Amino acid sequence: MNKSWSPHSWRARPALHIPDDYPDAAALRAAEAEIATLPPLVFAGEARRLTSALGKVANGEAFLLQGGDCAESFKEFSADNIRDTFRLILQMAVVLTFAGGKPVVKVGRIAGQFGKPRSSPVETIDGVTLPSYRGDNINGMEFTPEARLPDPSRLVKAYNQSSATLNLLRAFANGGYADLYNIHKWTLGFVSGSPQGERYKVLAEKISETLSFMSAIGITSDKAQEIRQVDFFTSHEALLLNYEQALTRVDSTSGDWYDTSAHMLWIGERTRQLDGAHVHFMQGIKNPIGVKCGPTLEPDDLKRLIDALNPEAIPGRLTLIGRFGSEKVNERLPKLMKATREHGVPVVWSIDPMHGNVIKAANGYKTRPFDRILSEVRSFIDVAGAEGVHPGGLHLEMTGQNVTECIGGAHALSEDELSHRYHTHCDPRMNADQALELSFLVAERLHAMKDAAAKAA
Ligand code: PEP
Ligand code: CO
Repeated sequence: MNKSWSPHSWRARPALHIPDDYPDAAALRAAEAEIATLPPLVFAGEARRLTSALGKVANGEAFLLQGGDCAESFKEFSADNIRDTFRLILQMAVVLTFAGGKPVVKVGRIAGQFGKPRSSPVETIDGVTLPSYRGDNINGMEFTPEARLPDPSRLVKAYNQSSATLNLLRAFANGGYADLYNIHKWTLGFVSGSPQGERYKVLAEKISETLSFMSAIGITSDKAQEIRQVDFFTSHEALLLNYEQALTRVDSTSGDWYDTSAHMLWIGERTRQLDGAHVHFMQGIKNPIGVKCGPTLEPDDLKRLIDALNPEAIPGRLTLIGRFGSEKVNERLPKLMKATREHGVPVVWSIDPMHGNVIKAANGYKTRPFDRILSEVRSFIDVAGAEGVHPGGLHLEMTGQNVTECIGGAHALSEDELSHRYHTHCDPRMNADQALELSFLVAERLHAMKDAAAKAA
């Protein structure tokens, strides 16, 4: 990065969705200064390892699975929640690895995914208007004037929660919990409990057979590290640049700047302006990064973003996360994929089938129909096939908890059931059954693709 970049140079650019109404400016500066003295959450070498794993995705040799909460919260912070989301991602990854015949890079929306850009700065309930809730690292969700004031101590609390979350994730990933044989056993439990179980059984049994073969020839948890450990990475939207700045440090081995708040960061749909603060900030850090690509993005703007964010054309540096909605994906995605193919700079193409598929149920709940989520993923795979692009990744909002936030799926969750366990702090997430189901249905497509490629070879 040239000399005009520093971790704070974003402050001279238009910065959208970062609160500027903290009642106590000195307290905000003190919180930022405190975080700047705290240890990094990740190590630059890990971020480099993720870039190279994503480079394989860019080359069509692997897949990316990225998922977790829309917004983490202080209230839902618990060991069980972390464990269940981690386990769900691993279960889905096993299914996708087997079906696609390629490694799956596992990245959580976790250990830092707090701040939210909101479509409206205010919220009105029964004639009372207050500032919108913006994520637990900014203000509180309760509908009172006090809770909705931005509070700088929340930034420090979010750092501490991210640190504890990451600590547990590292323990799960390396301490034996992630054992492949266990993970598959849990998936068998899901298959036997699903109304669509018969459909998923074929694939699940093939995985079981493969595992018993491996075990018979001695590839067991105690002998092979690959069986009992996983590489698990963290990510979040780099929204609050003051927080990201405080955790951006020079890596002593390379001399480069890394944002040590997570392995991967992404730019949201609302903050991807080419001359804006968020794009500028991301230009200077060496982490692998993502950018959301919504229905208003034109091919020429996308090429300019790619040039700005991956000028050295490093495979794995940049992931494009499409989020168009099931009704727009077929119209918008082909020209963007064509543009990236012609442009030639390597990118990972991933799909977020969540953010373009939000509807309001008749009873007022914000929800997402499972069918639309699935439909956008299938369109993504089909369009990629037609454009000669690798359908590299999935970006999902989901939780290991048995929530009732998205309608549909094998258990046919209805609008009336949304109120039963609607716990999200922002957008509706798939529950564990819905997310696993999605991975089986996507696996069917990947399997077909693999077969077609084998026949063509
Ligand atoms: C999100 O990923 O939670 C989000 C806000 O997405 P987008 O920027 O695509 O709207
Ligand atoms: Co969201």
